[in-house]
Amino acid sequence: MTPALTYQDHRLFFENIALTDIAEKYATPCYIYSRKHIEQQWQTFSHALQDYPHLICYAVKANSNLAILHLLAQLGAGFDIVSEGELERVLAAGGSPDKIIFSGVGKTKNEIQRALKVGIYCFNIESESELQRINDIAQQQNCQAPVSLRVNPDVDAKTHPYISTGLKENKFGIPIDTAEALYLRAKDMPGIQLLGIDCHIGSQLLDITPFTDALKRINTLLQHLQDQGIHLHHIDMGGGLGIPYHSMDQAVSIDQYMQQLLHTLENNRYTLIFEPGRFIVGNAGILLTKVEYLKPTDEKNFAIIDAAMNDLLRPALYQSFQDIIPVQQHLDIATQEYDLVGPICETGDFLGKQRQLALKEGDLLAICSAGAYGFSMSSNYNSRPRVAEILIDGDSTYVIRQRETIQELYANEKIPHTL
Ligand code: LLP
Repeated sequence: MTPALTYQDHRLFFENIALTDIAEKYATPCYIYSRKHIEQQWQTFSHALQDYPHLICYAVKANSNLAILHLLAQLGAGFDIVSEGELERVLAAGGSPDKIIFSGVGKTKNEIQRALKVGIYCFNIESESELQRINDIAQQQNCQAPVSLRVNPDVDAKTHPYISTGLKENKFGIPIDTAEALYLRAKDMPGIQLLGIDCHIGSQLLDITPFTDALKRINTLLQHLQDQGIHLHHIDMGGGLGIPYHSMDQAVSIDQYMQQLLHTLENNRYTLIFEPGRFIVGNAGILLTKVEYLKPTDEKNFAIIDAAMNDLLRPALYQSFQDIIPVQQHLDIATQEYDLVGPICETGDFLGKQRQLALKEGDLLAICSAGAYGFSMSSNYNSRPRVAEILIDGDSTYVIRQRETIQELYANEKIPHTL
């Protein structure tokens, strides 16, 4: 459900641009994003917090294209990163280090050293060993590392198991019942400055209750910490707000989400930090693809398209639904049920199943809601160059990532002289 898509005379437009024109100019498959939608989502999120002290750190993993990071940096965004690669991207895009949060369970020594050197705002710590490592490195660098502990509040986010992170059995965070003891240890570490508390319970949540449940548990913990003389500055609620992928999905009211969080906080005034990814970019993007072949079989009809699971992994990995709509509406062709599959040699290579479409070979299709975890999860599997990314800005379009060339695919490979 990408809202900026409309039909005019049976041709699909993304904002003011006919998608046939984009295909002609840049070829398919390609990702296309709307600057306007990203800006609107950003404003919606930040306005919902009004003048309550907050910092919004866009989760870079959702879509890490430099142009998008730059756009968000200009809007005042902070960034949630999970690797040195993401750190360098944010800096290259003009993001300020003092608004960067470093999340993730496996931060390496090099990553920690670099993040301390550039002066990031905070590390979200996920284990006792990581706390110890960050303390040691900070002391070696003669500084204190600003940290939050990511607690695992043991709430069920009721989302796909692969993107659910807040349950005891998940690898993420510090179990909430042992967090107090770790805060007490951290308090005495000379290389550690305790700034806050963090949680991230999962992704694509369309229900607010798990967030408020998590915050209630955090509230109780914060009370205990205060009793022990530990006064924190911020609460990081992570990301996770879902977007409508399906016409039946009910969009979350961001105002309600914020109001309920503030209500749960009662009168405690902590700076609130958020790490939204999908909410900002998910419905700002589509993947444009072409039908190569129609292949009717006894069992079903396949439409073989030029995009595949290496370009957009979500349907194969999570059996997720993304709407697929035609760029040219045919009034003279009967609608049939199709499985939309890519050219990759895997049965799991599908982008959509059982879709009602009126199709001819050569038709273009828009795979909707592809702005988040689309390009950023793409790969070169089957030696397929990664596709181009295009940004629509008003009446203009810009290439924000060129299509990879075949030569780039093996440019870093070497044949040893002994072979
Ligand atoms: N913060 C942390 C610590 C995270 O792990 C994530 C996402 C986010 C923030 C952003 O979550 P969001 O607001 O985008 O839901 N590839 C999956 C989603 C994986 C999410 C991983 N962590 C998908 O395509 O659905």
